[in-house]
Amino acid sequence: MARLAVIGAGYVGLVTAACLSECGHRVTCIEVDERKLSALGAGELPIHEPGLAELVWKNVVAGRLQFSGDYAQIGESAFVFIAVPTPCRENGSADTSYVLQAVESLIPHANPGTIIVIKSTVPVGTADAIAGLQSVLNARIEVVSNPEFMRQGTAVQDFLQPDRVVVGASSLQAAVDVTRLYGALEAPIVAVDRRSAELAKYTANALLATRISFMNEISHIATAVHADVDDVARIVGMDRRIGPAFLRAGLGWGGSCFPKDVLALSSVAAGNGCPTPILEAVYETNEHQRERAARLLLDSVGSVQDPVVAILGLAFKPNTDDVRGSPALGIAQLLFEEGVAVRAHDPFALANARQVVPEVDYRSDPYSALDGADALLLATEWPEYGTLDWAMVRETMRGKTILDGRNFLDGVLLAELGFRYWSFGRATQSNGNGAAPHDDKLGSPPPGRTPQNGGNGTTPHGEATWTPPGVWGAGVE
Ligand code: UGA
Repeated sequence: MARLAVIGAGYVGLVTAACLSECGHRVTCIEVDERKLSALGAGELPIHEPGLAELVWKNVVAGRLQFSGDYAQIGESAFVFIAVPTPCRENGSADTSYVLQAVESLIPHANPGTIIVIKSTVPVGTADAIAGLQSVLNARIEVVSNPEFMRQGTAVQDFLQPDRVVVGASSLQAAVDVTRLYGALEAPIVAVDRRSAELAKYTANALLATRISFMNEISHIATAVHADVDDVARIVGMDRRIGPAFLRAGLGWGGSCFPKDVLALSSVAAGNGCPTPILEAVYETNEHQRERAARLLLDSVGSVQDPVVAILGLAFKPNTDDVRGSPALGIAQLLFEEGVAVRAHDPFALANARQVVPEVDYRSDPYSALDGADALLLATEWPEYGTLDWAMVRETMRGKTILDGRNFLDGVLLAELGFRYWSFGRATQSNGNGAAPHDDKLGSPPPGRTPQNGGNGTTPHGEATWTPPGVWGAGVE
């Protein structure tokens, strides 16, 4: 078992420190942010991540994991992982200054032969550049790139059961040493050069973002031609060459990674004379999703005096309290600027959201957010929103528009209850009274055609029925 240090107690740093200590290593996690450190000292995690608290405290108690604000605690660590943020600069490039600061801070305390392991997502060439720093060469320190592919919300599981562990090294010995740290995990190890490891991380995130943007484009086509995007995604996802993941249409991708990484990859490419029309379109398509949603909500409350829109879900995805890049907050801002009052609920992200957009009226109960609202935006698919008492909500809301930004709710049921249900490319869009307000241009439904309902071809009540597609202005066009 090795002694190692992890610099940074953010999402990646905390999960890395906890999971490596769970693998049996002795880990010191260095965090210079006093607030985070004192929260950890008081037994509180600064983030909400399922399963992480248990893992952290278990390993703290076992004496394998400790936290400190002092770089001197790196002491005898043979490996120092760097897991600090690389935020987006104004021009889209990644700001690596925290990584470089961490390197400079650790060098005086590191022994010759120490291996710096870069977990932060850094532009291609960063690890090579660090390895070439005079201070690093003088201290005889190795640099290895070891990108992380964990997702927030499932980070612990992703770390402990990874699809692969990527080790980018310039020497075989360093690659072998870092590989051994992961010996307790059952995962293929991919040993490559540092630049390929760095580029692979950006490529993975950009490709996932591309799939989502592509399906969002398809969702608009589905709406226009009266098809169902969920069914389309299910069908194409069954192709083993394509696979089912990351094909869900909706408000688009948020978070701290996809937006910044798509821009940073484009920026690296531009710096090397490579045009990136695909990446640019992927980014733009994503931005448009929010604008479309805001426009549709504005239209739906256009004639109402003192309109109120309720938003359910503020985290950029379920199972996290992170609101960075949250589509919900972006839309709240757009609505607010147009004079619409916004009320919002989220089971975990209220405090973080309040710091970013203080103008919103935050409620700790979803029903209270919906009471008297003219329209609802479902922005994050927290499971509890699927089981709300929608009949009661129909009574208490002033308006009847629901925009399901994650294609998550039971559109058939909501339409039956009298809501106007809008989604991103689902066939079950309704004007709330069961009738299409305009002629179905495509004529009768194709034989055997059923509405969206979770993919089994029946309504929630078990009968196979047909709901006119694309009614009420057909979704969010
Ligand atoms: C992403 C990657 O999935 C991780 O592999 C990577 O390690 C991480 O970034 C990172 O670079 O640190 P994360 O941002 O935590 O992870 O979240 P994802 O699960 O990838 O979701 C990103 C966004 O895409 C969310 O807003 C989610 O709602 C949206 N999404 C996801 C869709 O709109 N449709 C989908 O089908 C899937």
